[in-house]
Amino acid sequence: MSTQELDKKYVLPTYGRFDVEFVSGNNARLKDINGKDYIDFTSGIGVVSVGHANERVNKAICDQISNITHISNLYHIAPQAEAAQKIVEASGYDMQCFFGNSGAEANEGAIKIARKYGEQDGEIKRYKIITLQHSFHGRTITTVKATGQESMHNYFGPFPDGFVYADTMSDIEGLLDDHTAAVMIELVQGEGGVQPQDKAEVQALAKLLKERNVLLIVDEVQTGVYRTGEFTASQVYDISPDIITLAKGLGGGVPIGVVMTSLKGVLSAGDHGSTFGGNYLSATAACSVVDILNEYKSNGNLDEMFEYFNNELEKFYSAHKNIFTQKVGIGMMCGLRVKDAETLSSIMLNAKDNGVMVLKAGRNTLRFLPPLTITKEEIDEGFKALNITVTSL
Ligand SMILES: Cc1ncc(COP(=O)(O)O)c(C=O)c1O
Repeated sequence: MSTQELDKKYVLPTYGRFDVEFVSGNNARLKDINGKDYIDFTSGIGVVSVGHANERVNKAICDQISNITHISNLYHIAPQAEAAQKIVEASGYDMQCFFGNSGAEANEGAIKIARKYGEQDGEIKRYKIITLQHSFHGRTITTVKATGQESMHNYFGPFPDGFVYADTMSDIEGLLDDHTAAVMIELVQGEGGVQPQDKAEVQALAKLLKERNVLLIVDEVQTGVYRTGEFTASQVYDISPDIITLAKGLGGGVPIGVVMTSLKGVLSAGDHGSTFGGNYLSATAACSVVDILNEYKSNGNLDEMFEYFNNELEKFYSAHKNIFTQKVGIGMMCGLRVKDAETLSSIMLNAKDNGVMVLKAGRNTLRFLPPLTITKEEIDEGFKALNITVTSL
């Protein structure tokens, strides 16, 4: 049976898949089962931050797993402790980490920390979490409820109580009450349509929340690990959140999620846990990814490539203003608003046929999340294929 046939017979149909099967990759290049080459402007939805088949990450993983892959969090795990140190130092925040396996899991951890803090701090029990409309925080029952998209709350109830949605950042203040434990935001909404928040508004919110003793959780599952130019987008926005979550780009493709917090004394032994979280495999991958990207940032390559990519995206946008209405995003988390949803679907399909993989966000945004190590040649090839795609619509 072909992969497609096996998929159809044995895998639950939760994804509408594109008809393509990749067998190998190298940095921002992919090869499919028929030998056709593609440029990857998706990095597996922001995951393969240091490119496909990164030799350094692969070697680190192979060396590690030839000794030990897993033993459990009942024992000391050297790469986990080292990964925590690297993450905390790269962020510059005085925090500690908990390791899980995904973005949703990291957000679950963040919510647990906020709720325990809210329960113990002060006389009134504080449990409410305010999130934003069009946000996306994950697919577990709690993070689905935390997600400010009504269409995602159609089934699966009853949901946990205590989630409140603000239409905009400026509506948050009016929703704060004696029971509010935390506000959780993405600094650039990813799935909701590549929507950066305004820096001054974010800073004002951070200040207000500190004054009101309400925690600020920043969901950096997509924006984190240098995607927006610094290790965290919180550094780009120059704020000090109480809790930050990371996932996607941290493991370079190996599943990992991290909740990091300055509230070091809130969780105690037994409050939270994970069988796989931070095992030798994922923590080693994270150490290697953070090392590579720290070097890439400090030698100037990251900023140079961000500029190059954004210049090429700007040229592409300017050449096709009949189709695109706005360029959005920060760093290598960018998008182009497309005039209508139908045109966006055609671009996605034709781009694949022309050898470049792109993403969609929200209803009308063509989204770009290339590997952070993408080269100028790969960027040029990708936009060449996109130009052909859009010109022939
Ligand atoms: C901002 C944000 N939070 C949480 C998640 C959920 O992450 P995961 O799919 O790893 O559970 C995502 C995934 O797209 C995300 O973009």
